[in-house]
Amino acid sequence: MRDLIYYVACTVDGFIARPDGSVDFALPEGEHLTDLARSFPETFPTHLRGAFNIAGPNRLFDTVLMGRKTYQVGLDAGFTNPYGHLRQYVFSRSLARSPEPNIELVSSDPLPFVAVLKRQPGLNIWLCGGAELATVLFPLIDELIVKVNPVLIGSGIPLFSGGTGQAHLTLLSTKAYENGFTLSHYRVKPLHIDHHTRNSLSPSPSASSPK
Ligand SMILES: NC(=O)c1ccc[n+]([C@@H]2O[C@H](COP(=O)([O-])OP(=O)(O)OC[C@H]3O[C@@H](n4cnc5c(N)ncnc54)[C@H](OP(=O)(O)O)[C@@H]3O)[C@@H](O)[C@H]2O)c1
Repeated sequence: MRDLIYYVACTVDGFIARPDGSVDFALPEGEHLTDLARSFPETFPTHLRGAFNIAGPNRLFDTVLMGRKTYQVGLDAGFTNPYGHLRQYVFSRSLARSPEPNIELVSSDPLPFVAVLKRQPGLNIWLCGGAELATVLFPLIDELIVKVNPVLIGSGIPLFSGGTGQAHLTLLSTKAYENGFTLSHYRVKPLHIDHHTRNSLSPSPSASSPK
């Protein structure tokens, strides 16, 4: 079973974006970026791989999951195929068809769909975000890697957008950089899954499944 890892940047007060969706609080340069490119190369968009000397096969992730609003940020900037080196799934009930052959649109319930995806062979699955998708997929998240920018922004889109319930985390590693950026890697401790959630994780015959 491969892991679903929510790898995400946020502020010290826990926001992944400003209320308007912008992420201009993220430190644009510094030693942390070189380190992240080395440790998590697949999470850099395809068009930036050259600038960060990223080459070669994927090591950690081979799949990325995006909510439609997260995908839309790149789309609005002209990037229809942001992570061409990964299998890309965009969850949406509003998009009629994919703007790009490499992007698979998923309009069915994300939970059973991703439960099947996790059982397929391969590298880990990167849950890119945003908060809405992360909230829906909360019961399936195995690890959380939080990149905390040393800033408070007061309001915005939080790590999770709704009632996720509670989880205990085991800290696997943490790293602090001189510029104040920190990286914390947690494993979610297994929780009791209630009857309703367990049933919703069993794909129904009509549910679409990953190819
Ligand atoms: N800091 C970071 O590392 C980071 C990472 C990722 C994203 N972000 C930011 O997060 C913001 C977007 O986050 P968000 O929470 O607003 O939105 P989101 O999770 O990216 O996308 C929400 C959309 O996903 C689709 N969706 C949600 N639940 C679904 C379900 N059950 N079935 C099918 N589709 C479903 C819907 O699309 P439709 O409306 O099309 O139906 C919904 O509007 C952006 O501003 C982005 O910049 C930041």
